[in-house]
Amino acid sequence: MASKIIYDRVFSGIQPSGRPHIGNYLGALRNWVRLQDQSKSAFYSVVDLHALTVPQDPVALKSSIHDVACVLLACGLDPKKSVIFPQSKVLEHTNLAWLIMCHTSSTGLNSMPQVKDKAKDTIPKMGLVTYPLLQAADILLYRASHVPVGKDQLPHMFLAKSIVTTLNHSLQTDLFVEPESIIEESACRVCDLKEPEKKMSKSALKDNACLYLDDTDDEILTKLKVATTDCHGIKLSYDPELRPGVSNLLTLHSAFSGMSYDEIIASSEGKNTIQFKREVADHIIEHVRPIRQRLEALRADQGYVDQIVTEGTERAQQEASDMWSKVRTLVGLP
Ligand code: TRP
Repeated sequence: MASKIIYDRVFSGIQPSGRPHIGNYLGALRNWVRLQDQSKSAFYSVVDLHALTVPQDPVALKSSIHDVACVLLACGLDPKKSVIFPQSKVLEHTNLAWLIMCHTSSTGLNSMPQVKDKAKDTIPKMGLVTYPLLQAADILLYRASHVPVGKDQLPHMFLAKSIVTTLNHSLQTDLFVEPESIIEESACRVCDLKEPEKKMSKSALKDNACLYLDDTDDEILTKLKVATTDCHGIKLSYDPELRPGVSNLLTLHSAFSGMSYDEIIASSEGKNTIQFKREVADHIIEHVRPIRQRLEALRADQGYVDQIVTEGTERAQQEASDMWSKVRTLVGLP
């Protein structure tokens, strides 16, 4: 079925931060796959420079950067439709970030989400403080019209828009394009299976708390079986405040079965908790299995993935060089 083109240019970034989980998939990657069919062009960057804002082990970082490319492809990004590349390979990102720094006052940067999350009681490093300016550079460099992001990124997106206004005004141009955020209503927030008050995260404290895209069928079933629910009887209801565990299972069910909460609740009448958990696991397994199988094949074929990333980098580089040479002219750099 041909999708309708509704967006001009989509850009988004993902940090290379270890094993991707179901929360990353439902919150972002699944939408990226859909957007590649709904846009004239889509650029997806592995934002490795952003990863440097927190301490990294060089060997692990290098392998994560490669692995994210494998994951993007396994989830269904098609290199004919989407440009996949590591941010650090295109030097214009940092060039433009510098120009943006020269036009942005430092007020407000310390209250942006990345500083609040990652430098709670310490004096933040400059990389962390200027993180949103590099993010704005990523977006502006490709003149992206639309940026799919999670709600947590809205302050960064707001800043990126205001940077467009500032740059266009002070450089007397309309070269920079104001990006619209795409916040998916359906982009669901998946929670920790053991402590469902918390967002699903790979740094979960307890075993079996996080579902990974490369979990085996058995691992998924086991994790679901031991997922925290509550003792409010077997009748299901969606109430994230009072029944976070049950609500999280409903979210997972709905995300993979496509059924509404009401439909799931009605169809589960008379089932006990373990039957319901098994049903949720089945829906997840059916969807995740082909992703895991593709991921295994891609991980075993480094040459193929490297080739795609090299081609993606060339394509991104063309775009970035073209934009940066226009910016140089405007600014007066030789
Ligand atoms: N800050 C984003 C996140 O943590 C990642 C990111 C970097 C990004 N550059 C971007 C997202 C540009 C969208 C567009 O999720």
